[in-house]
Amino acid sequence: MLSKKMEKAFNDQIKWEYYSAYLYLSLSAYFQGLGLPGFANWMEVQTQEELFHGTKMFRYVNEKGGRIQLQAIDAPQHTWKSPLEAFQFALNHEYAVTKRINDLVDLAQKEKDHASAIFLQWFVTEQVEEEASFGDTVNKLKLVGDGGGLFMLDRELAVRVFTPPTAA
Ligand code: FEO
Repeated sequence: MLSKKMEKAFNDQIKWEYYSAYLYLSLSAYFQGLGLPGFANWMEVQTQEELFHGTKMFRYVNEKGGRIQLQAIDAPQHTWKSPLEAFQFALNHEYAVTKRINDLVDLAQKEKDHASAIFLQWFVTEQVEEEASFGDTVNKLKLVGDGGGLFMLDRELAVRVFTPPTAA
């Protein structure tokens, strides 16, 4: 069983994971519009990652006998001033997600919900990777500026593929 507080917190986070998918799909469209298909691909793969996160949490709540209540997903931002601003926006979003995951862990501990605390460890670790991968591209964008390096970076981001984690 999940406590009502945990149930609500998980339902809120499921919405955030699917919102993240929507945001990255919007970013993918933004990059496609700029003529940067590699960046667009990277963001589309990130969308799949977020759908995976949301579904992983959805299944856990079901498994624990919790009541899923899906919430309305807000429209994401559609445009940014530059590729750097767009990626920085995404990185800031990941920082906010990390804080939400940490708050969920705090709540699980407060509720003495050991199963949820253990389940959430996967997300704690995942957020370290998420921040690192977004941060890496933010740093590269700062280095390359608006010149030809942008197209080289685009080629680099084009090779990303979605690989579902095996320990799911
Ligand atoms: Fe689901 Fe990017 O955190």
